[in-house]
Amino acid sequence: MRALVTGGAGFVGSNLVDALIVGGCDVTVLDDLSTGREANLTGAVASGAELVTCDVFDAAAVRSAFEAANPDTVFHLAAQAQVSDSVADPDRDARVNVLGTISVLEAARLSGVERLVYVSTGGAMYGEAGVYPTPETALIRPESPYGASKFAAESYVSMYTDLHGLSTYTLRLANVYGPRQIPHSEGGVVAIFCERALLGKMSHINGDGEQTRDFVEVSDVVSALLAAGNSRVHGACNIGSGLETSINELVAAIDGLVDGGLEVDYRPARGGEVRRSVLDPSLALEDLGWQPTVALGDGLRGTLDHFR
Ligand SMILES: NC(=O)c1ccc[n+]([C@@H]2O[C@H](COP(=O)([O-])OP(=O)(O)OC[C@H]3O[C@@H](n4cnc5c(N)ncnc54)[C@H](O)[C@@H]3O)[C@@H](O)[C@H]2O)c1
Repeated sequence: MRALVTGGAGFVGSNLVDALIVGGCDVTVLDDLSTGREANLTGAVASGAELVTCDVFDAAAVRSAFEAANPDTVFHLAAQAQVSDSVADPDRDARVNVLGTISVLEAARLSGVERLVYVSTGGAMYGEAGVYPTPETALIRPESPYGASKFAAESYVSMYTDLHGLSTYTLRLANVYGPRQIPHSEGGVVAIFCERALLGKMSHINGDGEQTRDFVEVSDVVSALLAAGNSRVHGACNIGSGLETSINELVAAIDGLVDGGLEVDYRPARGGEVRRSVLDPSLALEDLGWQPTVALGDGLRGTLDHFR
């Protein structure tokens, strides 16, 4: 496979790049390094991966990166991925997530790419879904510009299959955690708690801690990405553990692994946060033969090891 990974210097993207390299693929990473880090690619670049530093919004630069790399498979992960930043600057959010996706789709179409996998979000699109675990058939009800821009991009991706015959698939991720997650990013609650526990610093919980999330380990997400890249099925599926974990349960699990070293305090709930979020991953098994394999305790152990 000749793969091009947008956002490949980021948390999920760099884990994917490493797996592609191990699988013997030629890999080009396209990333503007806004939240991604060159250091995440040290091993991959040493093994022959190429980093093109470029903004996905710059259609001409994206086009020439595609011409040079001539990929057969594209994994599109580059995104403005912070909900609060999307609320503060919806224009930039849409530029990166919608127009950036269009420039990647156009480059893919014009350079004869065989398969494009788009990485979307579950929680931010379904909002307060009312059905748990939430299936793909649930009403799409974004509660932020981020959720809306990811959904708009999904529609473009799917439409390119109908209009241009480009083979595409979308993965709607739950809350991903694991090595290389940035410990100060908004959705990075696992990384934040792990890092602070190891530093002996207090962690903060917004609200009563009974809000729930679906935590899926990054190596499971990488195997879903690889399965979607190798398949030719069209559509979109959830990628999550299917298990609902409260923030209080997460704290207890991490605390148990650091011998009582995770101290927390409770702060006022943040407005606009969904109370429950858990995805039904059964379509992923049907479409891609994928199921989650990493239990939360094992994944947390690996994440703590990364921060040690
Ligand atoms: N981490 C999660 O829990 C989660 C959940 C749902 C969906 N996602 C999606 O997964 C993808 C990867 O997220 P992540 O958690 O690895 O975040 P990340 O911030 O680590 O990765 C995003 C990458 O995209 C790059 N990027 C941002 N804007 C760019 C631009 N204009 N041009 C080129 N590159 C740009 C960043 O530098 C970074 O390397 C995103 O599309 C995100 O929406 C992540």
